[in-house]
Amino acid sequence: MSAAHSTVRSAFDLTATEYDRARRQLVPCFDGFYRAAVEALDFPREAAIDALDLGAGTGLMAGFVASAFPAARITLIDVAPAMLARAQARLAPVIDRIRIVEADYAQTPLGGPFDAIVSALSIHHLEDPDKRDLFRRIFDALKPGGIFVNADQVAGATPARERRNKDEWVARARALGVAEDDLAAAIDRMKFDRPATVAAQLRWLAEAGFANVDCAFKDGMFAVFGGYKPI
Ligand SMILES: C[S@@+](CC[C@H](N)C(=O)[O-])C[C@H]1O[C@@H](n2cnc3c(N)ncnc32)[C@H](O)[C@@H]1O
Repeated sequence: MSAAHSTVRSAFDLTATEYDRARRQLVPCFDGFYRAAVEALDFPREAAIDALDLGAGTGLMAGFVASAFPAARITLIDVAPAMLARAQARLAPVIDRIRIVEADYAQTPLGGPFDAIVSALSIHHLEDPDKRDLFRRIFDALKPGGIFVNADQVAGATPARERRNKDEWVARARALGVAEDDLAAAIDRMKFDRPATVAAQLRWLAEAGFANVDCAFKDGMFAVFGGYKPI
């Protein structure tokens, strides 16, 4: 594991207990954001899809996928054991459909092939060349016709837009009543952020071979985007 990833792991391990408490304030568009990610998975609800969640954390995204697709089998990868311990507890009612892997997804083989690979608020921790490499590895780990959906924090298209997005995020989190400690912890974790613009990431996805790349949702610094592996 690289030094950067071991620091990301420590940051999330240390804040695992507080992590879930502040989600709805720290992701002010929480409902629309996760709903758009799950709705992008255009499989029949009864389909027994094999899904992979990269940077699954406390299992929020995996939980939404498990509810939307009651026959789905979901593999969770995360580098932070304390976050995965919470995921295990959250997903206890559906644990027979869950596999939990503690690993750095930038280094470990992704396995598969999967029908769907999802990720929420995680890939923006990678440097841009590592994002591009991951997009290629995700492509290889999908079945033909499979889909990749990334619900992530993204950079503004210009430095001015980036500043406005950050200022608006702080204002909205406060308007939603975030505790100042939780806001400070989130701002502290942001020193590990390496967000890229939606436009750049759609281009990298297309370069990796994905078809029909698109952004399904955008609200300030939060976006849901992805593409399909051609059949
Ligand atoms: C902000 S949390 C998001 C968790 C969850 N997906 C959600 O939507 O709440 C980011 C997670 O990504 C994990 N992470 C970051 N980089 C990683 C890497 N290279 N390999 C595995 N996990 C990583 C962190 O440990 C953390 O649990």
